[in-house]
This record gives sequence, structure tokens and C-alpha cells, in this order.
Amino acid sequence: MRIIFLGPPAAGKGTQAKMIQDRTGIPLIVMGDILRAAIQKQDEIGKAAETYVKTGALVPDDMIIKIIMRRLTEPDCQQKGFLFDGFPRTIAQAEALDHEMSAQGTKLDAVLYYKIPDEVAIARISGRRTCRKCDAVYHIVNKPSKVPNHCDLCQGELYQRDDDKTEVMQNRLIAYHKKTAALVEYYQQKGILGYIDASQSIEGILQETLRTLNLQ
Ligand code: AP5
Repeated sequence: MRIIFLGPPAAGKGTQAKMIQDRTGIPLIVMGDILRAAIQKQDEIGKAAETYVKTGALVPDDMIIKIIMRRLTEPDCQQKGFLFDGFPRTIAQAEALDHEMSAQGTKLDAVLYYKIPDEVAIARISGRRTCRKCDAVYHIVNKPSKVPNHCDLCQGELYQRDDDKTEVMQNRLIAYHKKTAALVEYYQQKGILGYIDASQSIEGILQETLRTLNLQ
């Protein structure tokens, strides 16, 4: 399957995407994780993306499109499709994806829009903790790790992302409303958009996601 998860920061896209990957084996491609790994390595992409990510701005389209186009040619995507979390985030990125997919003779199966009010997103983000080693995501109240500050999966240390601080989160929401929200209409017009109420519990969202993707 070829799927996109769309929605504002902290809507819970990553949490759901990981569970869908575990159930289906569809390759999960998380643009934020790719950028954070590059920043950590301080490679060419990481150095160029660092200021954007740290301030909550979008990384330029040409850089993002190059990363995705390369990733799409890898064997796992060719054989099993993909689940994108955090791509596309602009109309230019969506058009580049359309162009590449039509060149490959493939098409999207679904785009799910995780709808959530900004206030709920802001409340969620302050409690998020991420594993330094494996990127697993927790929440100090809603999804705590079994041992405080340590990942259940790899025992790595949990930390708060720099861009989860309130001021940067505000910038990410501004970037979302300015550039990414337009994708809702873009995919609605193509007739492949599904709406998910992302204000409910993690389990409730999972059930709605599975139903919408016909995976139950
Ligand atoms: P990225 O890492 O993609 O951040 P994001 O889209 O802002 O998404 P988040 O990871 O913040 O949220 P999420 O929806 O995955 O929520 P989660 O499941 O973690 O991007 C970071 C940066 O990279 C961007 O700002 C930009 O600079 C750059 N970038 C990335 N892609 C780009 C692109 N295509 N173009 C240009 N620049 C790009 O959940 C949040 C918290 O809530 C967690 O603690 C979780 O445990 C908890 N939670 C989840 N679901 C629920 C629930 N139902 N109830 C209660 N709590 C919940």
C-alpha cells in the first residue's frame, strides 16, 4: 500500500504510523527522523537542515524532494509501498510525489488527515519524550515508559526534543497552517482523503485508522 499520514504537529501521526507498520510491514518513512539523524551525524543534509528544524520552519522543498525520491527507489518501497509520516508538507512536495509516482506507474491508496485543535496539540507536545537510541515516542501522562526516562524497547535514554519547547512548537503550528493545511483540499479533490478524529484515545484512533484503511 502507498499511504500518507497528514496533520498538524503532535496530532499523533507518528504514534499511529508505528503501530500500522508493526501490523502490516509497510515501510515507514518518517521525514522528521531522517532529518534529526542527519543533524546528529552533521552530514551535508544535516548541516543544511539544522537551523530550519531547530526553529520550527520547514526545510526547503528541493532538499526534501531529493531525499524522498532517493528513498522511493529502494527495494522495500518498490516491493511493499510506503507509509509517509511528515511528507509531503507543501503543495510543491505533493506535486513532486505525484510526478514520480505517475512515472513509476503507481498511485496513492490513501491519505489520512489526523484532525486536532491546536490547543490539544500544544498540550500533548509538552509531555512527549523520545528515545535517543531508537526514536520510540512516549508521553509522560498518556503513554509513559515502564521505567521512568528509559525506553521500553531498547532501554535508551528518553529526552525532550528541542523543537517541542513551547516557542518552537508555535512556529511549527504557524508553518503547518501556512503551508501544509492546503494539502487537505489538494487530496480531498483527488478523492483519496480520509478524516480521522485525532482528539480521541490512542486506541480509538488506531481502530478508526484500521477501519479507514480496510485493514481490520
Ligand atoms: P516531524 O518530526 O515530522 O514533526 P511533526 O510533524 O511536527 O510531527 P510530530 O512528530 O511533532 O507529531 P506526531 O503527529 O508524529 O505526534 P506523536 O505521535 O509523536 O518534523 C520536525 C521538523 O522537521 C519540522 O518542524 C520541519 O522543520 C522538518 N520537516 C519534517 N518534514 C518536513 C517536510 N516534509 N518538509 C519540510 N520540513 C520538514 O504524538 C505527540 C505526543 O502525543 C506523544 O508524546 C504521544 O505519546 C502523544 N499522543 C499521541 N497520540 C495521543 C492520543 N491519542 N492521546 C494522547 N496523547 C497522544
